[in-house]
Amino acid sequence: MEETKAPPGVDPTIPSVARMYDYYLGGKDNFAVDREAAEKIIEILPNVRDIARENRDYLVRVVTYLSDQGIRQFLDIGAGLPTQRNVHQVAQDLAPDSRVVYVDNDPIVLVHARAILAENADVIAVGADMRLPKELLDHPEIRAHLDFSRPVAILMLGVLHFIPDDAEAMSIVEVVKASLGPGSHMVVSHGTLGELSEEQKREGAQVISRTSAPGATSRSPAQVLAFFDGLTLVEPGVVALQDWHPEVTLSVVAPGQAGALGGVGRVD
Ligand SMILES: C[S@@+](CC[C@H](N)C(=O)[O-])C[C@H]1O[C@@H](n2cnc3c(N)ncnc32)[C@H](O)[C@@H]1O
Repeated sequence: MEETKAPPGVDPTIPSVARMYDYYLGGKDNFAVDREAAEKIIEILPNVRDIARENRDYLVRVVTYLSDQGIRQFLDIGAGLPTQRNVHQVAQDLAPDSRVVYVDNDPIVLVHARAILAENADVIAVGADMRLPKELLDHPEIRAHLDFSRPVAILMLGVLHFIPDDAEAMSIVEVVKASLGPGSHMVVSHGTLGELSEEQKREGAQVISRTSAPGATSRSPAQVLAFFDGLTLVEPGVVALQDWHPEVTLSVVAPGQAGALGGVGRVD
């Protein structure tokens, strides 16, 4: 993407975590500042591209599972830039009447999402910030598109780690869970670091501090598991992404490396 053609409202001089993630996934929707910041992260976490790919594979398996459970409404918070096999493509391939809302606080995501969704009346993209979860969940466009009296799946993939404060992350999750009725699901994936030195952590934090999401944190399996309190955890629980119903994918992230954890919880 050329800096001079940045859409209105998009600042090509500040690295965007959405565009850095696009770069990890081999996409073209990124600027020089994003590639530079992403390359620094790759130096610190050499397997970050594998983690991103594994996260997208997990997304496909989770949406397939949820569709099998009869879920036809999806709210994808921190959706990221459209890439291959987005939530609506997986869900609508399986059940054409599936309705999807993509939410992100990065304007670049909305520009691209709206362009690819122009002809799909069952899918919309909304700009909102998960740090204001009540406002997000009460957003009139979201409420008009999804019927919360019926089962909804709320996905928060690769996004809660951009809320470094543990209490804030937990309170966002509490608001999300409170919005869900019986048969609804909450899906999380979350970065977890392997054995990084203090210097690597400091360097990583410095790179992230200059981006569109200026704080990030790793959480342990116990911390990610705690997000699901009050829900029935779908088997096999909170596990490394590659171990969540791995039938259809081959793992690329070796045990012990930095990676990501994921789980699905159901409201009974
Ligand atoms: C690593 S990407 C994950 C994309 C996608 N969910 C996936 O897992 O493949 C994180 C996304 O979360 C978005 N994000 C970060 N903080 C956010 C916030 N406070 N509210 C909404 N979106 C946020 C970023 O803009 C980015 O698009």
